[in-house]
Amino acid sequence: MTQDELKALVGRAAIDHVVPGSIVGVGTGSTVNCFIDELAKIKDRIAGAVSSSVKSTERLVAHGIPVFDANEVESVPVYIDGADEIDHRGHMIKGGGAALTREKIVADLAQRFVCIADASKLVDTLGAFPLPVEVIPMARAQVMRRLAALGGTPRLREGVITDNGNLIVDVSGLRITEPLAMEADINQWPGVVTVGIFARHRASLCLLGTPEGVRQLN
Ligand code: 5RP
Repeated sequence: MTQDELKALVGRAAIDHVVPGSIVGVGTGSTVNCFIDELAKIKDRIAGAVSSSVKSTERLVAHGIPVFDANEVESVPVYIDGADEIDHRGHMIKGGGAALTREKIVADLAQRFVCIADASKLVDTLGAFPLPVEVIPMARAQVMRRLAALGGTPRLREGVITDNGNLIVDVSGLRITEPLAMEADINQWPGVVTVGIFARHRASLCLLGTPEGVRQLN
C-alpha cells in the first residue's frame, strides 16, 4: 500500500471515533484531509467542526460542514489530527504544516485526542523530524540562539508565515527523551508562541495505518 492509501485508511477509521450530534475538533494536514473527506459523508450526523487552520476550514466549508469559532465552543468530545512523529506513549511532534498553535488550542478543548498517521510516523524517541517552533518575529534570533544552546540546529522556515502572522523555526538534531520537560521549558521562553512537542496534549489513542490494516496504540 502507498503512504497515501495508508492515510486514507486511517482517515476512514477515525470516523468511528466521531461522536454523533457533536462538534468535532479537526486538525490539519494531508492525513486530516482524508478524514475531512470522510466526515463530509456523515455531515448530517454532526453539529459541525472546530478547525485548527485556515486550510482545514476551507476544506470543511467546501464540503458544507459548519465551522465554529473556537471561542464559541467550551469543549469537544474528540479532536482528530495527524502527527509528524509519535512515540509509544502518544507524545508527538507536530507542526510540519505550520498549524501547531491552533492545533494545540483545539486539542486543549478536546476530551480525547485521536491521532491518525501512517506507520512511518511511529518512533522510539522523538527528534528525527525537525521540531517546529512558532516564534514572534521580533524574538527569532534570540529563540534560535537558545535552541542552538539546547544542542539543536535551528533553521528559519523560509517563506512561511503562520495563520497567526508568526514565523516557524525548525530544529534538527534534537533527541527528545523527556518530551514533557522540554515542552514546558521551550514554551516559557519569551517570544515562543508554541513548541511543536505535544506531550501535555498527547494522543489518547493513535490509529496507525499499516499494510496489514489499522493498528491501535493506546
Ligand atoms: C500540521 C501538522 C500535521 O498534523 C502533521 O504535519 C502531519 O501532516 P500529514 O498528515 O500531512 O503527514 O502537525 O501542522
